[in-house]
Amino acid sequence: MIQDRYNRIHDYLRISLTDNCNLRCFYCMPEEDYEFTPASKLMQVDEILAISEIFVSMGVNKIRLTGGEPLVRKDAKAIMEGLSKLPVKLTITTNGVRAHEFVDTFETAGIRSVNVSLDTLNADRFQLLTRRNQFATVKNNIEMLVNRHFHVKVNMVVMKGINETELLDFVGWTKDLPVHVRFIEFMPFAGNKWQHEKVFSWQEMLEVITTVHPVERLSDGAHDTDKKYRVPGSPGTFAVISTMSAPFCSTCNRMRLTADGKMKNCLFSREETDLLTTFRQGGDIRPLILKSIAEKAKELGGQFTSDYAHIDASKLENRSMITIGG
Ligand code: GTP
Ligand code: 5AD
Ligand code: SF4
Repeated sequence: MIQDRYNRIHDYLRISLTDNCNLRCFYCMPEEDYEFTPASKLMQVDEILAISEIFVSMGVNKIRLTGGEPLVRKDAKAIMEGLSKLPVKLTITTNGVRAHEFVDTFETAGIRSVNVSLDTLNADRFQLLTRRNQFATVKNNIEMLVNRHFHVKVNMVVMKGINETELLDFVGWTKDLPVHVRFIEFMPFAGNKWQHEKVFSWQEMLEVITTVHPVERLSDGAHDTDKKYRVPGSPGTFAVISTMSAPFCSTCNRMRLTADGKMKNCLFSREETDLLTTFRQGGDIRPLILKSIAEKAKELGGQFTSDYAHIDASKLENRSMITIGG
């Protein structure tokens, strides 16, 4: 069992498969001079499987694949099929661009729940946000996954002055389709143009929605990042992820592995533990995992301060989001 000083048991591992991506969302990656990590530095398939097996032997029962975009990796299929043999709930967070190519693999690998990032329902705005023209593909793929009975969560990062006017359109979608939209407060990472003025808090989101719709509050799982709601009678739900204004660190059960094999004990931690080098040298990574979690901070959500208005985004030392995977 992997437990920290605050008695939080860590049984959920998020593995980034690559920092490469087929979109270019400004809020996720630096616009200039970004170089993707060369393949030789990434964990290979057998390394991902063996390291995952070690985490599972220590109590991990849920693995989420993230990126960058996990489905741009040539061996994504082999990774999913390999991990499907472990006794874990296997899930993935994807931008949805290539979901149609992998839907059969999702099924054979036992992936039942897919989180898809989509920040706008407007094709022109999608192009502005992602610098790629893939809106129709992503929207169609979400509908395809729903039709094939996957539990589909749509992650929408809400940014004031950019897409906050679309909240009601997304809620409208949940009235027609069994899709689970999550409105996420915009978080600061190195090079992502974050400004506190762009954060649209979860209270502001609810205010916009409840002026138009009656909503019922749904129950949450013990370690959920989201607070869930439904417009009564709808097949879908919506939720808010209050990562800046109301962090949920006290129930955190998450560990992260970057694509180059470094463990992060928190989304916002600066410290990293290099597991891959020790693993490649034939060493035991278990003590490193335990030490990393033993040193985990009580709360870094909201980024070291409950008053996020004072964060200077130009001084952030954390990796950019594209190399962590959220
Ligand atoms: P579920 O397993 O479906 O609950 O997924 P999730 O919400 O943990 O993961 P997903 O990859 O869909 O991420 C949704 C949003 O929540 C992203 O913006 C993540 O960065 C954010 N998020 C996920 N885990 C954490 C966390 O541990 N801390 C904080 N602050 N935000 C997180
Ligand atoms: N703030 C909040 N969420 C973000 N994501 C990426 N960058 C940010 C950010 N700066 C979300 C993506 C993806 C999830 C893993 O993290 O939309 O769905
Ligand atoms: Fe866990 Fe860190 Fe996220 Fe808080 S900010 S919920 S401690 S990963």
